[in-house]
Amino acid sequence: MSVESVVLTGDRTTGPLHLGHYVGSLRNRVGLQETHRQFLLLADAQALTDNADDPAKVTRNVIEVTLDYLAVGIDPGKTTICVQSCLPALCELTMLFLNFVTVARLERNPTVKEEIRIRGFERDVPAGFLCYPAAQAADITAFKAGLVPVGDDQLPMIEQTNEIVRRINRQAGGAVLVEARALTSNVGRLPGVDGKGKMSKSQGNAITLSASADDIRAAVRSMYTDPNHLRVADPGQVEGNVVFTYLDAFDDDKAALAELKAQYRHGGLGDTAIKRRLEEKLQALLAPIRERRRQLADDQAHVREVLRKGTETADALTRTTLAEVKTALGLFSFSRS
Ligand code: TRP
Repeated sequence: MSVESVVLTGDRTTGPLHLGHYVGSLRNRVGLQETHRQFLLLADAQALTDNADDPAKVTRNVIEVTLDYLAVGIDPGKTTICVQSCLPALCELTMLFLNFVTVARLERNPTVKEEIRIRGFERDVPAGFLCYPAAQAADITAFKAGLVPVGDDQLPMIEQTNEIVRRINRQAGGAVLVEARALTSNVGRLPGVDGKGKMSKSQGNAITLSASADDIRAAVRSMYTDPNHLRVADPGQVEGNVVFTYLDAFDDDKAALAELKAQYRHGGLGDTAIKRRLEEKLQALLAPIRERRRQLADDQAHVREVLRKGTETADALTRTTLAEVKTALGLFSFSRS
């Protein structure tokens, strides 16, 4: 097996997944399970680092995100799905890792910096939040993952993980942990339907994977296009036009799409027409996902069993890595003298 044969990725369980997750990474994961040993981590402990006032929401969404995974085609026979807060070895590894990263380095992490700004934490940033990149390094390395399919915003996490890996390996005098590589999607980050920043549930500009047909229709109708494209005959702008950005992500007929873009730029193609095309694509994509999700939601016992089994497998694996790291660092053990 190649170094990159193990894939791990995770999602904070703060809300249902949306189209941004789908194009950014979920779609990749459905393919990766055919060729790789894949783990998906329901990152409820990480979700608590900025949701300590609402643990119930974090817990509820463990099931919701699992339903999203299964509905898009993640097969628990091929992918191990596990619950972060039920894997104590991850906490222990995190504690060890925190000694191999400085507070200054944690404060410099661009993603954490941006998240602190957005959440308005400023001086009141929870310690757990500042440290979550070290916990994420524990997630990735505990599974010996070589490949991490994530959105661009997670690149600083992989970089920081690899710094910690190198520090520990140097200290241990051998390659006890493996470095990981991020796998980003070739379609960039999906913007929100309002065109303001990336798609995000908290910004209210998302289309969730469980959206109803009416929700989808309303979201597409409200989509930001070119504000200067007032009449059908006017030339329109394709760049920054959310409808075209989505068509790039969801319309496989690239030749037809190129023609539409040319026509739109030239003038003579209305927003209603391009929105209708996009709506068709999204309805066709999401209808079967929604139906599968509804069926699965009726069988909670099955979903819980998938999680129990996956977490059991992950527990054994992460405990092994933890033991290897402790041994490599020369920590006290009753089974050695
Ligand atoms: N930080 C990731 C996010 O916000 C979630 C996550 C937790 C993760 N642990 C991980 C991603 C390990 C990749 C690998 O989406």
